[in-house]
Amino acid sequence: MKWNNASPTSSSPLIIWGMITLMVFLAACKHDPVWPDPDGQVQGNDTISQDTTQQNDTTGNDTTVVMHPCDPDTVYFERDLLPILVSNCALSGCHDANTAQDGVVLTSYDNVFQTGDIEPFRPDKSDLYEAITDNDPDKRMPPPPRSRLPDSVISMIQTWINQGAQNLTCDESNACDTVNMSFSQDIQPILGTHCGGCHGSSSPSGGITLTTHAGTLGPAASGQLVGAISHSPGFSAMPQGGSKLSDCQISTIQAWIDQGSKDN
Ligand code: HEC
Repeated sequence: MKWNNASPTSSSPLIIWGMITLMVFLAACKHDPVWPDPDGQVQGNDTISQDTTQQNDTTGNDTTVVMHPCDPDTVYFERDLLPILVSNCALSGCHDANTAQDGVVLTSYDNVFQTGDIEPFRPDKSDLYEAITDNDPDKRMPPPPRSRLPDSVISMIQTWINQGAQNLTCDESNACDTVNMSFSQDIQPILGTHCGGCHGSSSPSGGITLTTHAGTLGPAASGQLVGAISHSPGFSAMPQGGSKLSDCQISTIQAWIDQGSKDN
């Protein structure tokens, strides 16, 4: 028997080893939701450090996008969409980092993109969009007894995905006009977006309804509203679990109160 015949057989363990490695590699590439580990960090991706930066810098200024004036037809993720997701979905017991129902965490751009399984330009292929538009009320998010998200929000999410599901920012610094504030045009949009998920008219948090003028008057008059949004000592910082409102939004609300909290 010639010993060098052994070479084909001795290489077969190598082939098997190679196949196992390949299988492990393929399994790791599977396009499933990324599962958070117990302390809420997302595993299996290289964006953890970015995530941490975003948590420290709640203004979202860690993006390298050059600031340009806001375009009314563009969806700016952190300004327009994230507050709605935080207020309606990232609740304790639902999609905050600790609960992460179904592995879905809706607290930051990276988490929404990955765990919401967003496919840019394809709302129909994006799990998040499918979940909010499902015709079966038992499968739809948010689940009953919460109602379907308003059409305006659903179409904003659709537009965001159609525009590439990016994390765009724009320069709002010159746009803060606080003359003659109107409840319906200036205040309601801010409160609806950032507070409505918890302070809507059905079982509002803390008994405070912020989606109507009547409900907003009490906390406006008592100082709770401004105390909470400006994170003053002695008040619960609002929006709970979300980023602080921008300076312009806080001045807008303050100006509306100074101008008599009108129902206009
Ligand atoms: C994720 C849910 C959630 C969101 C979003 C939220 N709140 Fe609250 N808010 C609560 C809860 C719960 C309470 C009652 C417990 C407490 O005071 O911490 C509360 C209490 C308050 C209070 C009373 C605070 C105090 O110290 O007396 C005010 C005022 C308030 N919220 C305003 C707002 C405003 C304005 C927004 C939006 C900018 C907002 N909240 C967004 C959950 C929320």
